[in-house]
Amino acid sequence: MSWPTIPPDPDTPRCGPPVPVDGGWVVTRHADVVAVLTDPRYVVPVAPGGPPGTLAWLRGTVSRFSAPDRHPGRRALGVAALRDLDPDELRDAATRLTMQTLDRLATAGRVEVMGALARRVPLEVLAARLGLADPAAAVPAVTTVAAAYHPGADPAAVAHADRAVAALLAMSPPAPAEAAANRIGLLVQAADATAGLIGASVRHGLAAPAALGTADLLAEVLRLDPPVRATRRVATGATRLAGREIGPDATLLLRFDAANRDPAVHPDPDGFRPGGPDQADHAGRPAGAGRDGHLALAGRSVRALTFGAGPRGCPGERHALALAAGVVEVLRARCRPAGTPVRYAPHPTLRVPTSLEVMFR
Ligand code: HEM
Repeated sequence: MSWPTIPPDPDTPRCGPPVPVDGGWVVTRHADVVAVLTDPRYVVPVAPGGPPGTLAWLRGTVSRFSAPDRHPGRRALGVAALRDLDPDELRDAATRLTMQTLDRLATAGRVEVMGALARRVPLEVLAARLGLADPAAAVPAVTTVAAAYHPGADPAAVAHADRAVAALLAMSPPAPAEAAANRIGLLVQAADATAGLIGASVRHGLAAPAALGTADLLAEVLRLDPPVRATRRVATGATRLAGREIGPDATLLLRFDAANRDPAVHPDPDGFRPGGPDQADHAGRPAGAGRDGHLALAGRSVRALTFGAGPRGCPGERHALALAAGVVEVLRARCRPAGTPVRYAPHPTLRVPTSLEVMFR
C-alpha cells in the first residue's frame, strides 16, 4: 500500500531555533511553538473595537482578538454555543448537503469543489444549527467578513465586511451584543480554515487508496498541508525562548507548518503516517482517545499543531473535523481528480485553494 507523500511547500521554513526576521521572531520547533502558546507572557495582538455592528466592533468583541482579562468570558460564550452542536449530527448534515449538491451538478460532469462545497457546506450547516434565520444567505456574508477579519485588510474589503456584519446580526437570534458577536465569530473562524482543510484533503485524498480512512487522511493533511500555517503572539516583556532573548513588544510568528514536520516529534517528518499505534497528541492522549471518547478523529489530529494549543486553542476542532469528514467522504466515493492545477489565494497565514476541480467517476 503506498500512502500519499506531501512534501513541504517551498516557503515552509526548516525547523530550528527561533530566527530574528523583520524586527520579530519566527518560531518553528514544535516544543517552542507550544511553549509560546501556553505562556501567558505572550499575548495575541488585540483588536481595538469600533462602532457597534461594524467589522471593527466584531473584531473588538470576539474572543479571538481579546486581551487576556476579557478572553475567558468571551471564549466561554462561543464554547457554550458549540456545546449544543453534536459533531455526529454535523457530519451527517454535511454528508446530506454534499450529496444533494453533487446530484444537482452531476449532469455537468465536473465540480469546482471550493465554491460548490468547501466554502459553502460547513458554513451553511453551522449557521443553521447556530440559529441564523437564513443559513444560505449567511454563507456569502461570513465569507466576506472572513476576508477582512485579519489585520491589514484593504478599505474596500472592510466596507463590504461592515455591511456583511450588519446582515449577519439581522439574521441572528436575539442575544446580548457580546454573545451575538461570539456566535458570528464561530462562523468566521470556521470559514477559511475548514474550507482549506476540505480542499487539501480532496487534493491529496482523491488519489489515495480507499483503505486510507478519512479520519487518518484529515489528520495527516492537517499536519502536512495545514490550512492555518501560522499564528502570531506579542511578548509583553523581556523573555527568553530556547536560549534567545526576546525583547518587549516583539512579535512572534509561530509556524505550524514547520513545527508539524519537527523531527524531534515526527521521526519521519515528511512521510504520510496514517494513525499508527505510536500516535499520541501533545497532551499525551493516545490515538483514538477523543476528549469525550467520541471520535477517533479528534485524538489523532492533535499531534499536529494546526488547531493551536493552550487556552486559546481552537474550540471548534471536533466540529471542523466532523464537517470536513462529511464533505470529503462523499467526494472520495463519487469523484476523481480532474487533473487541473490547484491555485491558492496569497495570504500570510492561511492556505486555501481558490479553485479545485474534480470529475464524477
Ligand atoms: C480545519 C479547521 C480549523 C482550524 C485549522 C482551526 C484553527 C484554529 C487555530 C490555530 C486557532 C487559535 C489561533 C491562535 O491561538 O492564535 C483557532 C481559534 C479559534 N477557532 Fe478554529 N480552526 C478551525 C475550525 C474552526 C471551527 C469549525 C470553529 C467553530 C465552529 C472554530 C472556532 C474557533 C474559535 C472561536 C477560535 C478562537 C478561540 C479563542 O478565542 O480562544 N474553528 N482555530
